[in-house]
Amino acid sequence: MENGLILGIESSCDETSAAVVKEGREVLSNIIASQVDWHRKFGGVVPEIASRKHVELINPVIEEALEEAGISFSDLSAVAVTYGPGLVGGLLVGIAAAKSIAYANQIPFIPINHIEGHIYSNFIAHKNLEPPLVCLTVSGGHTDLLYFKELGDYQILGRTRDDAAGEAFDKIAKVLGLGYPGGPIIDDLAEKGDSTAIDFPRPLLKKDNYDFSFSGLKTSVLNYINNQKQRGKEIEEANLAASFQQAVVDILTTKIIKAVKEKRVDNVILAGGVASNNQLRAELEAKLAKLNVGLYFPPLKLCTDNAAMISSVGYYHYQQGIKGEYDLNAEPNLRLG
Ligand code: KG4
Ligand code: ZN
Repeated sequence: MENGLILGIESSCDETSAAVVKEGREVLSNIIASQVDWHRKFGGVVPEIASRKHVELINPVIEEALEEAGISFSDLSAVAVTYGPGLVGGLLVGIAAAKSIAYANQIPFIPINHIEGHIYSNFIAHKNLEPPLVCLTVSGGHTDLLYFKELGDYQILGRTRDDAAGEAFDKIAKVLGLGYPGGPIIDDLAEKGDSTAIDFPRPLLKKDNYDFSFSGLKTSVLNYINNQKQRGKEIEEANLAASFQQAVVDILTTKIIKAVKEKRVDNVILAGGVASNNQLRAELEAKLAKLNVGLYFPPLKLCTDNAAMISSVGYYHYQQGIKGEYDLNAEPNLRLG
């Protein structure tokens, strides 16, 4: 039906989720069944368990999403599903469900990039937010700077040439024996440290492009730790955390500001785990405020994996007539492109 109701399905990791969203921004239901209790005792997501749980949960979750939205399959305009990146077993469960629903109801089946979904959480949360805008999506697996001309249409300005920013946080915390994931731990620790204590490099900071590189910074921090240990010197963990984090924040904010000025946008959005970094948010907000530019990020509830964000992207693809073929496969290593 031409009413802009999109059923979204998300099963790329350890949440089985289905949602109904109207015209990209109005969430009628967003059911999320977390499997975290089944994986916790193994210390991480076990792909085989995840696939089995997705098979068990997918139909009840979809039924609940329709029920809560007060609609039936025949009311849907299209069905959108995450086809990557993620765990192949889980992705295939969602894709099979979406194809069946689309075929049985003769509606379009729309494959969605999970990372794009995370970005669109911002448009669900902030209803009046409109492009053009600049978006930084930064997590444990990627660091991409994008320019959104309009909803459903973006251009990649730059991305990391090696490690993602989150990977550097995780690796440094691991080497210091602080735990996983490293981001929130370093974030807390840095508050107690002096960010000027150690002068770490800021790769590509002054280069006239939007590319990032975090591998050199990470290595430099690891070398510093090794040197201190070899000399029998104590490592001031808070100072190290603060100095490292300052380097990351300087790199990310510099490139964002450069993009804001060049593209002349009024707003910036953030997505991905590293976007919850307190110092990044505070420094960026202050610098953007001086330029009269707004900063937005999704609230916590929409930061974790959920199907509403998938429905939202799906609507804009639907409007543009973009849909999938029935031989579409899962793409575990899909990138933004
Ligand atoms: O988007 P996300 O939850 O998952 C994927 O990587 O797909 O991002 C997780 C990453 C991890 O590397 C984690 O250490 C980092 O985000 N992270 C943070 C913070 N919270 C999470 N990094 C810096 N500061 C934080 N507060
Ligand atoms: Zn995710």
